[in-house]
Amino acid sequence: MAIEIRPVSQAETKEYLRVLPYVNGFPQEEPEPSAWYAGSAAWLPQVQKTPAELEQYAEELLTDWFRPQAAFVDGKIAGGSAIVSVQVTVPGGQQVALGGVTSTAVLPTYRRRGLLRQIMSAMLDDCRERGEFLAGLSASEATIYGRYGFSPATFQHRWEVRRTDVAFRSEFTDPGALELVDHAVAAEVWPVLHEQVRAVRVGEISPLPGKWDGLGGLPADGSGPAHHLIHRDATGAVDGAAIFRLPWSPDPEQAGVLQVEAFEALTADAYRALWGLLLDFDLTKRVVAARRPVDEPLRWMLTNPRALKLTRTRDNLWLRVLDVRRALEARTYAATDSLVLEIHGEGRWRLDATPDGADCTASDAQPDLSMSVNELGSLYLGGVRASELSYAGRVAERTPGAVSRLDALLRPDRAPHNAVGF
Ligand SMILES: CC(C)(COP(=O)(O)OP(=O)(O)OC[C@H]1O[C@@H](n2cnc3c(N)ncnc32)[C@H](O)[C@@H]1OP(=O)(O)O)[C@@H](O)C(=O)NCCC(=O)NCCS
Repeated sequence: MAIEIRPVSQAETKEYLRVLPYVNGFPQEEPEPSAWYAGSAAWLPQVQKTPAELEQYAEELLTDWFRPQAAFVDGKIAGGSAIVSVQVTVPGGQQVALGGVTSTAVLPTYRRRGLLRQIMSAMLDDCRERGEFLAGLSASEATIYGRYGFSPATFQHRWEVRRTDVAFRSEFTDPGALELVDHAVAAEVWPVLHEQVRAVRVGEISPLPGKWDGLGGLPADGSGPAHHLIHRDATGAVDGAAIFRLPWSPDPEQAGVLQVEAFEALTADAYRALWGLLLDFDLTKRVVAARRPVDEPLRWMLTNPRALKLTRTRDNLWLRVLDVRRALEARTYAATDSLVLEIHGEGRWRLDATPDGADCTASDAQPDLSMSVNELGSLYLGGVRASELSYAGRVAERTPGAVSRLDALLRPDRAPHNAVGF
């Protein structure tokens, strides 16, 4: 069979869409409405499209931010994936270009023949040529992408709480105010709020074009209209917002569940005020929230911290460092120190790190620490500690104390988190 790996042309977009799992109708791994909200992202929504809609989608597929590659076998597309051009916030606040791998699929009849390996290699080369020194993805299965150097860097929780178990430790007097708004107001609030959030949140991703367009849309699963809640500070400026649904169900067990689809707060006041209302909503029994950060402060507001039950914990953004020097120089550090890092296959680097930035230079000195690019990807945003990876046998300490020193450099203020994906 003759295999050719190359970008998809406009004339080939319809054929390319054929290989995407959504179009194929394959079950998506987590078809949970509260995990998905609005916007025409690279993934097709989970509803059957009409031929006319697919035609339209194919027409508009190629943009300057969506870069699909395909494997052509004997001239026909047998597999594909794409890079979306987004940004990720790194420690210190710089928003750097990230090649986001998405929409990956190989037709069942062509799997396990190395097509994804070749597509991935072409896509990562493309990122390097464009100067993107980080690539990222979210993985449907955790066993696929490690071989390409990707490794989990941010994590997320889903939790639920029964309303009858909620009691706050202290009274809270809100210096600001909560307001229910319609989706037109929400559509103005969310883009601005998210920009403010991602300026300070390590790991957060820039939204794809169209992300905030569908805030009033009804989900295909009948989970009801989105409600929009915002919080204003004492000056009237919006400093937090939530999107929630109250799906109707004939099943009494499922009825009365308030689904929090999105939640952002720039201040502690907004955070406390928004959760205060959502967790004590009349006629509801339970609140469920997905895609939440692993260091959610909410449990510390409750008299019974166990009331908040984690129902899912999983990796979110996987990172692949494509240029060690540029990546290590793009972030700031929690301390001042120098370490020589050996990154298998990517060279040996002397990192001179400070709270204001770093110099990273090729070195032939004895390394203080050795690891692969996978471990570097997990450590990079500060969401995983070197000591954890060292205990797991994945980071080798060549100089006594070097693991703790690296941890001291990479220590994050908050757990890295991305509420927005791609
Ligand atoms: C996942 C998928 C894209 C892989 O494509 P593929 O062309 O079969 O992959 P390759 O033949 O290039 O395999 C490369 C390597 O990955 C391994 N691999 C492939 N699919 C895997 C899977 N689902 N789980 C674990 N390992 C897998 C192969 O064994 C091979 O390993 P090796 O390099 O050690 O020999 C394809 O199986 C698929 O379309 N699956 C359904 C859709 C899906 O899961 N998409 C991912 C969305 S994140």
